[in-house]
Amino acid sequence: MKKKIKKILLKKNKKKLVCLTAYSKSIAKILDNYCDIVLVGDSMANVLYGHKNTHKINLDTIIQHTLSVKMGIKKSLLVVDMPKGTYNDEHIALKNAKLLIKKTRCDAIKLESNKKNYKIIKFLVKNNISVMGHVGYTPQFKKKFRIEGLSKIQVSKILKEAKLIENAGAFSIVLECLSPNAAKEITNKIKIPTIGIGSSSFCDGQILVTDDMLGISGFYPKFVKKYINLNRIIEKAVKKYSRDIKLRKFPSTSNFLNGFKYRK
Ligand code: KIV
Repeated sequence: MKKKIKKILLKKNKKKLVCLTAYSKSIAKILDNYCDIVLVGDSMANVLYGHKNTHKINLDTIIQHTLSVKMGIKKSLLVVDMPKGTYNDEHIALKNAKLLIKKTRCDAIKLESNKKNYKIIKFLVKNNISVMGHVGYTPQFKKKFRIEGLSKIQVSKILKEAKLIENAGAFSIVLECLSPNAAKEITNKIKIPTIGIGSSSFCDGQILVTDDMLGISGFYPKFVKKYINLNRIIEKAVKKYSRDIKLRKFPSTSNFLNGFKYRK
């Protein structure tokens, strides 16, 4: 088993896993000091590209962003989302996952469950590809957002789904927008780490979309804790820059280039 994956598995029931998304080198470099897992999420479709959903982001775009993120990562596990339509069957999934890994040297891929694609996970794992699963609200397959696992029957259905993903060989699983009961039950009954988003503190780890927790995405549902209002800070800086130019305060003589070597 790959060393970085083993490290993640060993944290189950011991230490909470810290995970965030990144789409670029500059952010990845900061996250790398604090995160166990950095995910290049297909949420970039909404966050960066202004799409209504995640359905139209393609493999090339994901690869380009992963190449940038990879430059900022030294120690965290780099996981990349397989876009919708790139894992429709075992062979398509293997071809695309191999391409993604070959081009980006990422550590693992994530794919969303549609309650049918367990065989695809199994096939990828058999071919030495590390897979993270994803249950609950899975934006690639579900149109309407709703919290899942509110009844006993629902909890046992999601638990069954999570177990099938574990048995297929996934090394961890994202639980998105599940009730606390469901998150607790699944986390207690499966051996692989659960990574929650909007799924209470009962999970083995947590993930958020970085732009949401930094306050720059404009998307702040109840489960997102905004750690800073970066929008306001950036706006303040840009306003000052604009004023400085108009008042001829920038550039000042201290910004003039006399014998300065530009970075390569
Ligand atoms: O695409 C993404 O960012 C994700 C996380 C929200 C888990 O899948």
